[in-house]
Amino acid sequence: MELPLQTPRLLLRDFVEDDWGAVHTYAHRPEVSRFMPWGPNSEQDSREFVGRALAAQVASPRLVFEIAVIWRESGQLIGGCHLSVQNQTQGVGEIGYCLHPDFWGRGCAAEASGALLALGFEELQLHRLQATCDPENKGSRRVLEKLGMQLEGRLRQNLQIRGQWRDSLLWSILENEWRGGR
Ligand SMILES: CC(C)(COP(=O)(O)OP(=O)(O)OC[C@H]1O[C@@H](n2cnc3c(N)ncnc32)[C@H](O)[C@@H]1OP(=O)(O)O)[C@@H](O)C(=O)NCCC(=O)NCCS
Repeated sequence: MELPLQTPRLLLRDFVEDDWGAVHTYAHRPEVSRFMPWGPNSEQDSREFVGRALAAQVASPRLVFEIAVIWRESGQLIGGCHLSVQNQTQGVGEIGYCLHPDFWGRGCAAEASGALLALGFEELQLHRLQATCDPENKGSRRVLEKLGMQLEGRLRQNLQIRGQWRDSLLWSILENEWRGGR
């Protein structure tokens, strides 16, 4: 897969080791991991996240793409997004995203994820991309709608977040739907 990628305002590139500090500026904030099974991160957690991202870069075949989201105007790392191939034979993958709160509400997650869909369907030749979000994560839900994903249903208590069982909404888009919607 060819990285880096450019969108109108963002650069999507592989993480490098030094990125852990920029990751930590958002990953330690409780509002960022409110709907996530991880966090709030310690410094060690953020270092380990970047370490896992680096390890995934050299896996062969590479099935996990943890990607740093850079605000092009300033060069600032403003978050991360990911695409993971869950079933290579069946062409099924999953996407996700996490941004610094200073950049929420500016369309950045939708912009970055739009590039992930193109990578999944065009370069990795996947058939289906899916995503999950917490039923109360209204921002994430709206991102998935804006991407043209369809709501498939509700996974019951599939995730434990800080000791509480949570449901997840399951969303997907198929390759032909993505091509038709462009
Ligand atoms: C979820 C997240 C990635 C969204 O990023 P973002 O860059 O703000 O997303 P976008 O700006 O592309 O779109 C957000 C949309 O949700 C809407 N939205 C945000 N909060 C909302 C709320 N509480 N109620 C209703 N709509 C809301 C925005 O208005 C926007 O819609 P619009 O473009 O139609 O106006 C960001 O909030 C985040 O990083 N959260 C923490 C990590 C996380 O939860 N990741 C997702 C895990 S499933």
